[in-house]
Amino acid sequence: MSHRPLPPPPLRIGDLVVDPPILQAPMAGFTNAAFREVVRQFGGAGLLATEMVNARGFVWMDQNEAEHPDRLWGVAEEARPLAVQIWDNDPETMAKVGVRLAREYKVSVVDINFGCPVRQVTEKAHSGSYLLREPDRMFAIISRLVEVCAPTPVTAKIRLGCSPESINANEVAHVVEEAGAAALTVHGRTAKDMFRGHADWERISEIKQHLKKIPLIGNGDLDSADKVVAAFKNYDVDGVMIARACLGRPWLFAQAAAALRGDEIPPDPTLVQQRDVMLRHYRLVVDRFGEEKGTVLMRKYACCYAQGKHGARHFRSHVANVASAEEFYSVVDQYFPQDRPAVIA
Ligand SMILES: Cc1cc2nc3c(=O)[nH]c(=O)nc-3n(C[C@H](O)[C@H](O)[C@H](O)COP(=O)(O)O)c2cc1C
Repeated sequence: MSHRPLPPPPLRIGDLVVDPPILQAPMAGFTNAAFREVVRQFGGAGLLATEMVNARGFVWMDQNEAEHPDRLWGVAEEARPLAVQIWDNDPETMAKVGVRLAREYKVSVVDINFGCPVRQVTEKAHSGSYLLREPDRMFAIISRLVEVCAPTPVTAKIRLGCSPESINANEVAHVVEEAGAAALTVHGRTAKDMFRGHADWERISEIKQHLKKIPLIGNGDLDSADKVVAAFKNYDVDGVMIARACLGRPWLFAQAAAALRGDEIPPDPTLVQQRDVMLRHYRLVVDRFGEEKGTVLMRKYACCYAQGKHGARHFRSHVANVASAEEFYSVVDQYFPQDRPAVIA
């Protein structure tokens, strides 16, 4: 443990300055443009990321003059900095998409997914975390992307290895750096762990010794401002990334940023304010996807906003079935957790 001074300096990813060095993680099915807008509203995240985008699907759509993937919704227009994450195992396919993202979409960062543990990506497509067992292929993918995307930085996101028996993050980190990536993010679990157990921050920290030029971003289980502070104090990382905990608490980044500066941590918004954040999120989703699809999509976000609150279970059971705006608003009115009146003894 290094006990480094706070606040940490801004993170540099190529020419991009990420300040504060707190990143919003890519999450498939969640971190779309509506969610990112809500995160931006609160501030505190130095770099936002899209959901992972399948490079092969993108190329196919291009060749067939179909619309670009839904997952690129907002990417061309929205505020920067923004990272777009892509996945596949073929360097040329990745390069075709990378160059479009860098030149046409003008994204701030092209991130490569080497961490996804889902069967459809690993076993079926030999991509995501599957590639951790093929460092040579990782090198080929990264170096090709770096070549075509320059000067847009290319980054990699990995897990510690494929399984607890085959942890190879130190070796992989070296490969990532040598291939020319501008940063490495590590989720401190193996693919086989999925989300079980705890993220191993000691191992994440150890990777730093294997990197000479590029920053290390640690990821896993950060769900409070205090934990973000502790991560910077105790472990050798240049940045941190937050995933699950920000889904229903997009204000977490602002709280963590304040804590890093040594400022007082802003309190959570009141439940009424949280409900209003959720309703704004809902309007953004419906504007894009229409009432029917947007309402169905919103069910899972709504559950995240209620999570951990008194009455969440009741709200969840009702919101899980809403199919129209009217139903959604009615369920929110009746069941979204409310500030409980003080009990007078
Ligand atoms: C629903 C969900 C979707 C995810 N999708 C992605 C993804 O598209 N790309 C990626 O690199 N990681 C993805 N992850 C992993 C997260 O980015 C992160 O590495 C992991 O959740 C650990 O961080 P946390 O403990 O802060 O949640 C996903 C995680 C969740 C829960």
